[in-house]
Amino acid sequence: MLKEKIIKELNDFKNKNCFRVLKTIDNTSVNLSSNDYMGLGTDSCLIQNFYNSAKNLPLTSSSSRLISGTYPLIEKLENKLELIYKKSGLLFNSGFDCNCCVIETFCNSDTLVISDKLNHASIHDGIIHSGATLLRYRHLDLDHLRSILVKNLEKYDTILVISETIYSMDGDCVDLKALIDLKKEFNFLLMIDEAHSFAVHSFGICHEMDSVEHVDFLTIPLGKGGASTGSYLICDQLYKDYIVNRGRKFIYTTALPPINTAWNLFILEHMNTFYNRKLKLKKLTELSHSLIEKYNMKTLSTTHIISIIIGNNSKLDKIIDHLNSKKYFVYGVKEPTVPKGTSRIRLGLSPNISENDIINFFEELNYAINNIF
Ligand SMILES: Cc1ncc(COP(=O)(O)O)c(C=O)c1O
Repeated sequence: MLKEKIIKELNDFKNKNCFRVLKTIDNTSVNLSSNDYMGLGTDSCLIQNFYNSAKNLPLTSSSSRLISGTYPLIEKLENKLELIYKKSGLLFNSGFDCNCCVIETFCNSDTLVISDKLNHASIHDGIIHSGATLLRYRHLDLDHLRSILVKNLEKYDTILVISETIYSMDGDCVDLKALIDLKKEFNFLLMIDEAHSFAVHSFGICHEMDSVEHVDFLTIPLGKGGASTGSYLICDQLYKDYIVNRGRKFIYTTALPPINTAWNLFILEHMNTFYNRKLKLKKLTELSHSLIEKYNMKTLSTTHIISIIIGNNSKLDKIIDHLNSKKYFVYGVKEPTVPKGTSRIRLGLSPNISENDIINFFEELNYAINNIF
């Protein structure tokens, strides 16, 4: 019975052109779909420097944090976070765990969570597991958020509002200042996820805007610009103590291996030396946006993550196959993840890409959009 149900569901995906398969990236292609936005994860010189300073570090912690998994390097890293963000820092094993854990630990059936409609699955799952009431506001629409707040303010003891800074799907960005102004007006708890802005904006947009004090739970997953694994939670010491005592996804799991913690610390310590990469990424971003305008393509992006709207899944698949055959590795976002008729190609820029690659890619993409149906 179970297998029959699964086969039917997967066949349905195939019929709708949204069956997913795992693809191995061909190293000879230009990777335009990487989340290594700063190119740190592939910089052999940087990596060699790191290994020179981190000889013989264990590849496992062999323990959870409350047993013997809080080894000195983790303590050093969390102290460094405290120095940078002027709040307590806690290292999680992944962004997914970090987001889920914060929401599950601090929210319950008495809480109202108001979440941007396009927030990441880890945020959504955390809310569902917490048992809180969930209301979603239209993506980045702070007027809609305000109207939800006005209607519900008196009904709940605790309201948590959750947003990301830069959004992964379209590369659009929250108006953080306006969101913090709303927080000051309505006095809700605020959670911000900086997965796609960390490193690109040094220690993140909240830090850059000197706004960390206004964010109750700042989560920083490290698998994108951070070129690593794990996630930071930046919060008050009281919340940190509570997670250490009650946060199931923090307590009941093996701590990150020392080698990863050392790399995370290394990146934090070297963050201020990445200026040239930031500059190159900015130039590539500007170049890409000017080519999008030149070729009359459609995007919602204002950042280094650029989605270009193509149309239906079938056209998207054919265009991606064409681009792959021209040695451009790109990733498609299909219906039903995005609304009907807006399947898109998602680019993640990085300083590893040359200006010529960008120019040639957009020329090829323009050809494909106009000639492949
Ligand atoms: C916005 C956002 N938050 C959290 C995560 C999860 O982080 P991790 O990959 O470390 O589990 C991701 C993607 O992976 C993400 O895009």
